[in-house]
Amino acid sequence: MGLKAITAALALVLCSRGFVSAQKAVYAHFMVGIVENYTVDDWKADMADAKAIGIDGFALNCAPPRVDSYTPKQLANAYQAAGESDFKVFISFDFAYWQNGTFTFHPGSLVTDHHPWWLDDTALITTALQNYSSLPGQAKYAGGAIASTFVGEFFDWAPVKAALSVTALPMLEDPIQATELHTSFDGALSWYAWPTDGGNSIIPGPMTTIWDDKYFEWLAGKPYLMPVSPWFSTHFNSKNWVFVCEQLITDRWNQILALQPQLVEIISWNDFGESHYISGPQPNHSDDGSSQWAAGMPHDAWRRITKLYIAAYKAGASVPTVDADGLVYWYRPTPKDTRCTNDTLPAPNGINLLSDVVFVTTMLTASATLTVTSGSLAPVSINVGAGIVTSNFTMGVGTQSFAVSRNGAKILGGDGGLKIASTCTTYNFNAYVGGF
Ligand SMILES: *[C@@H]1O[C@H](CO)[C@@H](O)[C@H](O)[C@H]1NC(C)=O
Ligand SMILES: *[C@@H]1O[C@H](CO)[C@@H](O)[C@H](O)[C@H]1NC(C)=O
Ligand SMILES: *[C@@H]1O[C@H](CO)[C@@H](O)[C@H](O)[C@H]1NC(C)=O
Ligand SMILES: *[C@@H]1O[C@H](CO)[C@@H](O)[C@H](O)[C@H]1NC(C)=O
Ligand SMILES: *[C@@H]1O[C@H](CO)[C@@H](O)[C@H](O)[C@H]1NC(C)=O
Ligand SMILES: *[C@@H]1O[C@H](CO)[C@@H](O)[C@H](O)[C@H]1NC(C)=O
Repeated sequence: MGLKAITAALALVLCSRGFVSAQKAVYAHFMVGIVENYTVDDWKADMADAKAIGIDGFALNCAPPRVDSYTPKQLANAYQAAGESDFKVFISFDFAYWQNGTFTFHPGSLVTDHHPWWLDDTALITTALQNYSSLPGQAKYAGGAIASTFVGEFFDWAPVKAALSVTALPMLEDPIQATELHTSFDGALSWYAWPTDGGNSIIPGPMTTIWDDKYFEWLAGKPYLMPVSPWFSTHFNSKNWVFVCEQLITDRWNQILALQPQLVEIISWNDFGESHYISGPQPNHSDDGSSQWAAGMPHDAWRRITKLYIAAYKAGASVPTVDADGLVYWYRPTPKDTRCTNDTLPAPNGINLLSDVVFVTTMLTASATLTVTSGSLAPVSINVGAGIVTSNFTMGVGTQSFAVSRNGAKILGGDGGLKIASTCTTYNFNAYVGGF
């Protein structure tokens, strides 16, 4: 082989490697529908919190402008904020609202735009992607602008790809669709982030990788956007159930470290309605009724756990590295059998499968003694090892207190921010999360 040929071969290898070995990234699902009045600064505040734990970008879950007139404005705000924050975003078209074919005009609907392409979602989706995909805030994979969906696996990406360079990572509701659909998708997102046999069936925990294994098998090397979520409880009249999450956050992240998917999506950043947010309280988001169970119920401390796992995932490590001692706790506000006195809805489905326990994740540089005093119950002390360990303790009504000691000296701890109560007016199966 002459020098020229070697150089050419080397260039080919380098180029194809650069193309194929896209970098691992962690995205978080962001509900644009609740930030109608967000400013660029509001977006930047969220992006700063997300970046601080290693999140690379937001998947912008949104409805078309005929449903939420502010979608274009908020997409523009998000892309501007991302571009100015060294952060990435991509659009996640919510196919509860977008259509996988020609949108049919219904007399009386909100469609007033005279442009015909508003009535054709293939064109509308293409335009939305063209609007933003060349901006610096656009998340990319293998050179293409990432586009994703919530449901919507029947949408055909071929005409979109004819117009611009897109890496289509739609949600597939069933992993077998990876072998059946001919929609020009490049990879897939799974929504099976909670224990379920499919649909929204509620099964006992703990979470397994039974779904993930199928996505990996049937995607056959195409990128898998693996979902991770800390919790799920919701209490609307249209949906009123819990999934059995318990210590899902550390169980699931350990599965991610074991499986090392190409990409990860945290569900969610700010879905207060389903109680799986890890953002701060977002003072400027609008309230869809979820404040009944999300107000005053912080989840921020879950970001401390997430940060260590994101670093480990990106490093390809099988366990996270802990370089400072810490503790994160979470628990529900009442034992599960508590009857609430003034709720128009019954208790959520699935609560009979929950355990009345308090969860503690210790993040320790060396083994120590963890002592938990749950309400009126006697203090319980256990030895916990170094690294990230999640333990649980029988729930007692009253103040929750936590202490970690090493060599007989207390190193951290304090009282939980919420007392567990034996009475309630409305059902709340969200978790109160705090830490030391
Ligand atoms: C919320 O909006 C107000 C008024 O626009 C603004 O002053 C404040 O900084 C915003 N808060 C955050 C966290 O962005
Ligand atoms: C795309 O840009 C056009 C032209 O500025 C604008 O009218 C439209 O609302 C944008 N669409 C989206 C989804 O952002
Ligand atoms: C969307 O896809 C489904 C499944 O292929 C199909 O039944 C439906 O007709 C499609 N909708 C449109 C508007 O093309
Ligand atoms: C957003 O601002 C507009 C104009 O001030 C107001 O009419 C609307 O109610 C606000 N939306 C929410 C959800 O707060
Ligand atoms: C029960 O809830 C309703 C609102 O849903 C409220 O108006 C009423 O004051 C509540 N009653 C009691 C006794 O708290
Ligand atoms: C509590 O911890 C025990 C011991 O590790 C474990 O067997 C059990 O599954 C845990 N309970 C829950 C609800 O996670």
